Amino acid sequence: MLLIKGGTIVTAERSTRSDVLCDDEGRIAAIGPDLDCPTGCEIVDASGLLVMPGGIDPHTHMEMPFMGTTASDDFFTGTAAGLAGGTTSIIDFVIPAEGQPLFEAWQDWCVKAEKSASDYGFHVAVTHWNDRVHTDMGRLVHEGGVNSFKHFMAYKNALMIDDAIFLHSMQRAGELGALCTVHAENGDAVSFLQAELLASGETGPEAHPRSRPAQVEGEAAQRAIALASLHDTPLYIVHVSTREATEAIAAARLKGLKIYGEVLPQHLVFDERVYDTTDWLSSARHVMSPPFRPKSHQQALWGGLVSGQLQTTATDHCCFCRTQKERGRGDFTKIPNGVPGIEERMSVLWHHGVVSGRLSPEQFVAITSTNTARIFNIYPRKGCIAPGADADLVLWDPTATRTISNKALHHNVDYTLYEGMTLTGVAKRTISQSLMVWDDGTLRAERGKGRYVRRAPFGRI
Ligand code: URP
Ligand code: ZN
Ligand code: ZN
Ligand code: ZN
Repeated sequence: MLLIKGGTIVTAERSTRSDVLCDDEGRIAAIGPDLDCPTGCEIVDASGLLVMPGGIDPHTHMEMPFMGTTASDDFFTGTAAGLAGGTTSIIDFVIPAEGQPLFEAWQDWCVKAEKSASDYGFHVAVTHWNDRVHTDMGRLVHEGGVNSFKHFMAYKNALMIDDAIFLHSMQRAGELGALCTVHAENGDAVSFLQAELLASGETGPEAHPRSRPAQVEGEAAQRAIALASLHDTPLYIVHVSTREATEAIAAARLKGLKIYGEVLPQHLVFDERVYDTTDWLSSARHVMSPPFRPKSHQQALWGGLVSGQLQTTATDHCCFCRTQKERGRGDFTKIPNGVPGIEERMSVLWHHGVVSGRLSPEQFVAITSTNTARIFNIYPRKGCIAPGADADLVLWDPTATRTISNKALHHNVDYTLYEGMTLTGVAKRTISQSLMVWDDGTLRAERGKGRYVRRAPFGRI
């Protein structure tokens, strides 16, 4: 047992001075002022600290095979890094190989993820359509504990689907009470622009953002929303990076459509100038999709989070080391797309969101944990501090400062986007399943300790 004494509990609703007792089954047993310490119980002094629900990152790609290589963080190293940053659960993506049955792909991912240090779940990507996919979606929901499916409108000739497949999948997800998620970029337009740029000799990473301008995301977001509206299917748009997509989501929500939007901290903090360098590697390390945008888009993303039109934050943690990025020397379309960030997410959002005065601490909890738990139907087990909830907590020092350095991070990749950035707000301790797994600089992540979190379909009790 663990008794967290003297801290301030911050939930998405309120902040209260209160103790938290965590039981030996990994759950919260009691909360209240001045709780007694049962015999044999370890006491953790939380004075001066905020006690918040552990972060949930609903968008990671651990050891994902992608663009001819495999993301370098595996489920152990990636989730361990998450714990060091205050994130206690992830939802990763099952990506079927070409033509692979979805259920089989999910089984493969279950094996890979057995080494996770934190709890985890999966979205399953629908990358093709046939009767087997229809059947497997049902098996995944009923037997697999999956309640969300992923759709890529980009990555032509790889993961991209057309509108017909998207509609079939949305209809099926609707029958099953599952949530559709989407990467909204027009893959045909990207492919067209990539070919045009390459033909004119533009082969470097600075061409990457020019091959995926804001209209490409705006069009896809609007189309995805229009398709979802045909049957009023709920839709979650991942990594929203533009004003166009944000406005499309807000307009749809005003019409009563159930559309949700996710933001990545890197899009809030960095802009297109990251590609404005003669240092090829530095530029390539920022190659992700959607790319970094002109600064003007950031105001819309912050506005979306502040107003609640955009509900969640994630990292899209997808790590590629130098040698992997080098695959795209001479052809930017071959640079593996993806950047790290799971360990840095909470601090970046506290510093740029709360310290800057944009977000309240309660809103911070909402966008890093609670809203995600609600949208993906794992609330109140996750994202909540209440008796019976999982004892997944972060003890947050709101005034401590640290300067980010890749040497001090725990992910398995050779850079961080945030190198040298000084941030206020630090995960002092992280508790997962009632165990102190990050203790003021000491990481005690245990391989295989993480559990698969089954997620029930919506509308079913
Ligand atoms: O560049 C990215 N985002 N890589 C990971 C795959 C995806 O699109 O989410
Ligand atoms: Zn059917
Ligand atoms: Zn994506
Ligand atoms: Zn992604």
